[in-house]
Amino acid sequence: TAKINVAIDGPAGAGKSTVARQVAAQLGYLYIDTGAMYRAVALAVMRRKLPLSDEEAVARLAEGLQIELRPGSEGQQVLLDGEDVSRAIRTPEVTKRVPQVAAIEAVRRVLVNLQQKMAAGKGVVMDGRDIGTHVIPNAEVKIFLTASVEERARRRYEELKRTNAHLTYEQLLHDIAERDRQDRERLTAPLVQAPDAVLLDSTGLTIAQVVERIVQICRRVL
Ligand code: C5P
Repeated sequence: TAKINVAIDGPAGAGKSTVARQVAAQLGYLYIDTGAMYRAVALAVMRRKLPLSDEEAVARLAEGLQIELRPGSEGQQVLLDGEDVSRAIRTPEVTKRVPQVAAIEAVRRVLVNLQQKMAAGKGVVMDGRDIGTHVIPNAEVKIFLTASVEERARRRYEELKRTNAHLTYEQLLHDIAERDRQDRERLTAPLVQAPDAVLLDSTGLTIAQVVERIVQICRRVL
């Protein structure tokens, strides 16, 4: 049967990457984590200590970077100019900075271009903020995955408390809400549900239940 494209968008910590990876595995499709690409650009910007106000320099840097995604043992492996930065892009410092880098129009132009090439052959499950609205507006299946901000902070806290003893639930709640605000309020491709996306609230659902719902929606189209 012909392959389709699946777009999964939503706020931070809604479980998009976990869900998207499992949906891709069940369909035999390629999973693409676009957040990792914005994180890689943010990391490069921070390493070069470029001021974010110098959008032209940031854009020039983004254009020259080589960003590759590869399937890895724990999620997606991210290569930045050949270096494995899978861990380096997940630090709190990078996480906090990404929305500012992602708000720069020229950065989005570079990454969206790459993402559209990746999706051109169909058979991808792509997660992000603007996939259904801008990257693959003709995706056969579009999901907007949410959960209450408290639930998202609670899940993140459960996930991180073992490795980070200083982290508090309140801090996470604040950080997640702030990142969402920046992603929703930016002018270029803000976080918003596409009119034709299926809204899925995962509050109170297990990962397996969310995956099953999405795979069902895909099978209806396939
Ligand atoms: O998905 P993840 O939380 O890793 O994304 C990190 C950040 O990258 C988001 O908060 C957002 O600022 C940016 N992003 C984006 N567009 C996407 C994916 C991520 O602006 N398609």
